[in-house]
Amino acid sequence: MSAKLTPAVFLDRDGTIIEDRGHLRSPSEVVFFPDTVRALQRLHAHFRLFVVTHQRGIADGIVSSAEVARVNEHTVAELRRRGVVITEVYCCPHRRDEGCVCIKPKPYFLEEAARRYGLDLARSFVVGDHPHDVVLADNAGATGIYVLTGHGAKHRAELPECKAVVPGIREAADWILACREWRLRENDDPGLMTRAADILRHGGVVAFPTETVYGLGAAAFDEKAVARIFEVKRRPRFDPLIVHVSAPEQLPLLVEEVPAAAQALIDRFWPGPLTLVLPRTSAVPDLVTAGLPTVAVRMPRHPVALELIDRAGTPVAAPSANPFGHTSPTTAQHVHDQLAGKVDLVFDGGPCSVGVESTIVSLVSAAPVLLRPGGLSVEDIEAVIGPLGKALRHKRGAAPAPGMLDRHYAPRTPLKLLDRGEAPGAHVCGRVGLLASQAAPCPSSFAAVEVLSANGDLREAAANLFGAMRRLDARGLDCIVAEPVPDSGLGRAINDRLRRSAAPARGD
Ligand code: TXA
Ligand code: MG
Repeated sequence: MSAKLTPAVFLDRDGTIIEDRGHLRSPSEVVFFPDTVRALQRLHAHFRLFVVTHQRGIADGIVSSAEVARVNEHTVAELRRRGVVITEVYCCPHRRDEGCVCIKPKPYFLEEAARRYGLDLARSFVVGDHPHDVVLADNAGATGIYVLTGHGAKHRAELPECKAVVPGIREAADWILACREWRLRENDDPGLMTRAADILRHGGVVAFPTETVYGLGAAAFDEKAVARIFEVKRRPRFDPLIVHVSAPEQLPLLVEEVPAAAQALIDRFWPGPLTLVLPRTSAVPDLVTAGLPTVAVRMPRHPVALELIDRAGTPVAAPSANPFGHTSPTTAQHVHDQLAGKVDLVFDGGPCSVGVESTIVSLVSAAPVLLRPGGLSVEDIEAVIGPLGKALRHKRGAAPAPGMLDRHYAPRTPLKLLDRGEAPGAHVCGRVGLLASQAAPCPSSFAAVEVLSANGDLREAAANLFGAMRRLDARGLDCIVAEPVPDSGLGRAINDRLRRSAAPARGD
């Protein structure tokens, strides 16, 4: 493989980068997904971009090739205006029964692009909302990523073996960039993944990236290995762990049954930031579940996590890779800062894209219950299975129910959470840092300011949250004041973390 060859991303058009609104005849019908431009800007920095589209409406006489060409030119021009260069648009105008060479999943266009532009297809990706896009990738020796926008959700059952199933183009970009980070690490440190998997197989502890936060993993059925997680984290044994799988097919090892509501959530949201609490099998060690008759399970949406679990050949029990009660890590450096020397390996897979932990839903009783707000919004979950009940909070002084400890995620610096609309200035005495939700006050009377998201994007705010808390914590401040964010979507998870960071310490 020549070092000069370039990696590329081949993008399907309809349902992947623009809305699928049938056969488009005019530029005015083009509607980009809200995440498209930003996602392609991020990819464009490292990959050559192509569009590969199938427009059988031309063969069927529904649209003309001139109309399709105008729509494609407009799409390319709009992206170029935003700094994204599409090197070439490849379009197959044929019906399947015409037996052309260029129809997906034949790799014709990819091979042509590889010859013409000197591409390394083995380091390239295809993103699309049709199973053909994933097979196309396989046929070209590239990696396929399946988006659930467009026709993606409808055709998912026809998808051949593919773990890279993501909600849309934004998460497709996250996946591709995570693969790139992984490749860079393997280049520096050949055999890294093999070593990490070997460590897990032999009872060791590995810190690894997921899309939410870094996890501290051990083989879930190896009680001694799991015990080391508790030691390293100094975690009380009454706090059970989440078990990570690389495919829903591994569930029978862990859970007695998968109720219909759980299956519906798995079909829609796995892989992703959703943990399900289900009745456990007797194979799951008591240490993992803290003696509960249930187990928490999730399939993460990160290529390194999935490959690691696969190669280890076992589900992996993993809490967040931080000392108990402290801020969760969203980069490998965060793990090094807090747990250096205590774990067998820290796998650097780049920054976590979601940035807050998974949402936890219990499906043990008839009515599903929200145990922890997190990286998947409650609104998204309720759209699939209806209203979620709230978990009952523990009484003061009683043993805390799992996942509901008052004080958690906390920096060392005392943190004061403001009420909504409360001015931060009133709390300035001594060296105070501000964790601003959106705009920083100007001029600032604060010793340090971190802004979660300048334009109020809650997903960006979640991704920045723990990093921003750590940076403020490192400034030697007397106190941090934090503004809450709007309490909807990911905002609930962010406010939950801020509230728990602000709770008075109880000696953990
Ligand atoms: O995003 C995440 O979920 C991350 C990454 C690494 O996957 N993991 C994570 O783990 O946040 P941890 O241990 O920090 O939080 C797991 C929470 C705990 O608060 C625990 O009490 C709860 O899940 N939990 C685990 N098993 C449970 C069970 N059987 N019933 C109720 N809650 C449970
Ligand atoms: Mg499509």
